[in-house]
Amino acid sequence: MPPKSLLGGLTPEQFLRDYWQKQPLLIRSAFPGFQDPITPEELAGLACEEQVQSRLVLEQGGSRPWELRRGPFAEEEFLKLPESHWTLLVSDVEKHLPQLQALLEPFRFIPDWRIDDLQISYAPVHGSVGPHWDDYDVLLLQGKGRRRWRISHRPVAEDNVLPDVDLRIMGEFQADEDWVLEPGDMLYLPPRLAHYGTALEPALTYSIGFRAPGHRELVHSFLDFLGEGVEDDGRYTDPDLRLQDHPARIAPEAVRRARDLLARHIGTDSALVESWLGRFLTEPKPYLAAQPMEEPWDAAELDQFLDQAGTLERHPGSRFAFIEHADEILLFIDGQEFALGPPLKSLATWLCREHVYPAGQLCGLLKHAAARALILDLVNEGYLVSYDDEREDDA
Ligand code: SIN
Ligand code: CO
Repeated sequence: MPPKSLLGGLTPEQFLRDYWQKQPLLIRSAFPGFQDPITPEELAGLACEEQVQSRLVLEQGGSRPWELRRGPFAEEEFLKLPESHWTLLVSDVEKHLPQLQALLEPFRFIPDWRIDDLQISYAPVHGSVGPHWDDYDVLLLQGKGRRRWRISHRPVAEDNVLPDVDLRIMGEFQADEDWVLEPGDMLYLPPRLAHYGTALEPALTYSIGFRAPGHRELVHSFLDFLGEGVEDDGRYTDPDLRLQDHPARIAPEAVRRARDLLARHIGTDSALVESWLGRFLTEPKPYLAAQPMEEPWDAAELDQFLDQAGTLERHPGSRFAFIEHADEILLFIDGQEFALGPPLKSLATWLCREHVYPAGQLCGLLKHAAARALILDLVNEGYLVSYDDEREDDA
């Protein structure tokens, strides 16, 4: 249960019932006494790293109004920025700095697969990304500094955007609410609600962004999944071909054969949909995906690691989820499916809930040979990692 302050006294049930995907909610002191887990300098440092996705938005002081620059940035670039009117945004920070996962923990009453990332922005005074709407739900937690947020309840219109700018910025924006958020305050916004944040002083804002796959993406992915199950060497046949009156005609029999073929291969029974959905929803972002171990462990190496009380951690870019049945549990990791028997249920659900797995707790769940084999597999695939060696090297 998250602390009462998180949702301004609402229970998660009340929040889901009355606000989620429906209307905005301002929560004063959602995180009382909030302490920033990162400094603006550390954020800028991250934005200089190769594998980190970052953006700079310069309302003024760039080569044109609302210039968008994409990272990685060179350190000198930050030194040349104006005093005001720009914003630095860094995505997936909880994956690059796994200790920041703690900030997302209280929100896990919303399914993991609906959470996209923690984005952190830094802006000097007047920094803003302009009035706009997003296609996803977002929770905006104010860190250091104060930020003014204006929101509009009017429906957004696709053509109400500034022409020829790098970002989607609304041409007209009329505020219906106007709030100043202080450190620890939080604002929930449903998708497509127009909002406009401006920093009143140097400010850090933490955006917990949600994921909502598009219908087209879902259907494409399902059909691809079905397609992979179709035998490779099957081919259209028509031994009963009949003479036709026009050479260009596609005859009703040809259409019927095609329909029969599709009907044989396109099914939506729940086992099929589960198998696809679990894989689809756990596909990692490609640039954050785990890599298989270069020198895979054997069973003895895993045993030795566990005997030495090592700690495994979830690869920060990996997505874990499960679907439970009475007689089996389907564990999905990064688009892979593992069908496990009832004795492995508690191991699978524990792996999905936690991000850090100390040997002491892990061993209690490894009574079955299949459980050990699973862990060995997950380590060798790179979904579970051990940083113990690196820490020893650092020390
Ligand atoms: C920001 O952090 O400045 C922008 C967040 C948003 O408007 O979605
Ligand atoms: Co936004």
